[in-house]
Parts: sequence; structure tokens; C-alpha cells
Amino acid sequence: MQNQKLVIEGGHKLSGEVRVQGAKNSSLPIIAASLMCQGETVLKNCPALSDTYASCRILTHLGCECRFSGNTLTVKPDGLNSYEIPDDLMHEMRSSIIYMGALLGACGKCCLSFPGGCELGPRPIDMHLSAMKKMGASVKDEFGIIECMADKGLHGTKITLRYPSVGTTENIILAAVKAKGETIIVNAAREPEIVDLALFLNKCGGKIKGAGNSTVVIEGVEKLHGCMHYIMPDRIAAATYISAAASTNGEINIIGIDSNLCDSFISVFEQMGCNVYIYDGCIYVNAKKTLKSVNKIITMPHPGFPTDAQAIVMAVLCKAEGNSIFEENIFENRYRHVDALVKMGADIKVIGKVAVINGVKKLYGAKVSATDLRGGAAMAVAGLGAEGTTEISDISHIDRGYENFESVIASMGGKIKRI
Ligand code: EPZ
Repeated sequence: MQNQKLVIEGGHKLSGEVRVQGAKNSSLPIIAASLMCQGETVLKNCPALSDTYASCRILTHLGCECRFSGNTLTVKPDGLNSYEIPDDLMHEMRSSIIYMGALLGACGKCCLSFPGGCELGPRPIDMHLSAMKKMGASVKDEFGIIECMADKGLHGTKITLRYPSVGTTENIILAAVKAKGETIIVNAAREPEIVDLALFLNKCGGKIKGAGNSTVVIEGVEKLHGCMHYIMPDRIAAATYISAAASTNGEINIIGIDSNLCDSFISVFEQMGCNVYIYDGCIYVNAKKTLKSVNKIITMPHPGFPTDAQAIVMAVLCKAEGNSIFEENIFENRYRHVDALVKMGADIKVIGKVAVINGVKKLYGAKVSATDLRGGAAMAVAGLGAEGTTEISDISHIDRGYENFESVIASMGGKIKRI
């Protein structure tokens, strides 16, 4: 699987209809949460991604029963018999830190090897660790092994985050949902995926209020039971398909998406000159006109412009008329896709957290390799709108977050194949 490539023949307008997959960044924390819920949990619209399979391997290793078919994941955690996740399983996906809160919530202890660092730069977990300590866990963090113990169980408390970290907010919710007493998170992350996690846990018997706002209140309960939950649609996958349409001056209809989830980036596509029509559960995009540059796209925590959409929107703006400017405020090293875009003919200068894109008439196909999940998707978006053939290697990054990427693009008329 490692040496697979995507081969894209650019210059074909995308048209047609695409259904959006379930959200990776909602399914991963919810799968982790399911190990805390007695009985059976059924997750529908669960995206078939390598990160989903990695999650199943972790749950199985911990003694849970896990079955994934079609887009339905069934978890029975009653056989949970371990609180340790070894290096190889932790390494498989970046978000495995979420098992800290889930295991502490489920059995009051966890032992994870946390490699830290990833394609986007260091992935510190200081906020995660200090929150667990505040809730009564003792934390030992040495040689990349993190051991948390809360032999008297976790207790609620008030936690103010210095930054609205998505993963930290999720880990606190998981640790707090069965803790003794009330936990208040101040300056919590407001991403929609956190709302979906709270919705799932409340269906399992949890008492979580305020998810999606900056203050979240969790009242601990004795136990949680399994439930059936439909994973929310993936707003970043939607942004990716809109970018692919814009990059090829195409015209597509996206179904199965709650357009409210896309408010943070739809306006950017409209500023580019795309016609975007939103109607019940669908987004229709017509990008037939030459696109215009967009000045100052600043990535911010939700509801600001999402950092996960930065690379894919940049790929579209490479051919827009005029100068576009990005400011990447969330991750230290999230311009790694720029070299590949420049190799395809883009005119981009990166100065610290600012990237200045000077629109060019054309991009040209080239041999590039995916640097990370959204960077790889950006190369595909650029390749679809380039002249000639683009070959993208290291596409395992893309498979972590996109279900059947090439068949979705091909279904809209893109000339793309996996070799
Ligand atoms: C989640 O990552 C997403 N991953 C990311 O999506 C997304 O880009 C990010 O949120 C921001 O929206 C999942 O949901 C699985 P953070 P997470 O904690 O939780 C710093 C994708 O492409 N920080 O909000 O890791 C951190 O270094 C992925 O789908 C600390 O300093 O994001 C980063 O600079 C990529 N200390 C910033 O906060 C901490 O203890 C944002 O991190 C925790 C985080």
C-alpha cells in the first residue's frame, strides 16, 4: 500500500454530484468514547479511512469487539481488559492521544506511548496533561511513555484553556463525563466535531452542556450505555471537493452536508468568484468564471477559517488573478505543500506564518509527494486544474482522511487513477 500513487490528467472540468463522507475528526473521538459505553454502540456514516481501521485495531487490542462493514462500525467494549496502547498502534494515527481521556474515563488509568511530532510540526500535549492532573490523575511522562493513574477516580474541576485546543477539549470531556462532580471548561474549542461528540455521549447517558460554545459544563454520571449514532458530515472533505470544482472551473452539487458547518469557508469561495447556492442539505457550486485572488485568509479556531482548509484553498488561488495572502496561526509547519505547488508553476513566497500567492495563468503537471493529509489533497486539487499529468506519491497521507478519494473525483469527471 505504501508505494501507491495517484496519476492525474489535468484540464478536465468537474461536474456532477458527490455525497460527503462522515467526518474523520468526529468519528475518531467518538470511536474512542465508545469504549466507555457499556453494551453495544453502532456508528453509522463512519468513514472508511485508514485512521478508522487504526482505531479498530486499538479497540481490539484493548479487548473490545469491533466490527466495521460498509460505513457502519459496531463496538462492544464489555471485554475491555487493558489500559495500555503500544507504540506501533499509537504511531498509526496522530489523534491517538484521545485514548488518554477515554481510558481514564473508562478505567481510571492509561499507559500510552506518545511519539509527539508529526508532519505539521511538534504536537505538544502540555494542555492535555495539565488538565488530567487537575482532575486528579497522576501523570508520569518519560522516554515518550505517558502513564496516568487516578486510583481514587477522577473528580470534576474548572479548567481554563490557554488556547481553545480541539483535542484537549475532547480529552477533558471524555475524562469528565464519568468523573465525580462537575467539570467546567473555559475557553473550550468550539469546532462542530466537539458538538457531535457531546451529542453522542449525551445519547449514551452523559450530561454535557454548552458544547460548541467557549464554556462547556459536564456533570459526571455513574455509567454510560451504548447507542446508535450517525456521524456528522465532513466539512473539510466538502471544502476539498469545492476546491476541486473551483480549480477546474467546474460545476458540482455536494449532497449530505449541513451547510451551516461550512460558513467558515464558503465566503472565501464566493470572494474568489464562485457562485455558491445552499439549499436543504446541499451545496451547489458553479466556478465557471476566472477566479479572483482573496486577500488575507487567516486561519483561526472555529468559527474562524479552518486551518485544515488552508492548503486546499491555496491550491485553487495559485491560478487566481492577483495576490492572495494566507496567515497560518494554528500549526507551526503547515506550508509543507508549498514546494510541490511551486514545482507545478505556482508563485508562492512563505515568510514565517504568512504565505503570499501571486496568481499565475497556468499550473503544469509534475511528480510530487504528499507531505501530510491536507497537503496531499492540495496537490490533487492543483493537479486537476493543471496542464499535463501530475503524479502524487506517499498517498497514504490522503487515505487517512479521504474515503475513496480517486473514485469520488472520477465520479465527477476528473481523470484520476491510483496505481
Ligand atoms: C485537531 O487537531 C484536528 N485533528 C486537526 O485536523 C485540526 O487541524 C486541529 O484540530 C485544529 O482544528 C483531529 O481532530 C483528529 P489542537 P488537534 O489541539 O486536536 C497546540 C486534519 O487534517 N497545542 O487544536 O491536535 C498544537 O501544537 C487534522 O484533519 C499545544 O500547544 O489540534 C497546535 O499548534 C490535522 N498544546 C494548536 O495547539 C497542547 O496540549 C492546535 O492544536 C495541545 C495543542
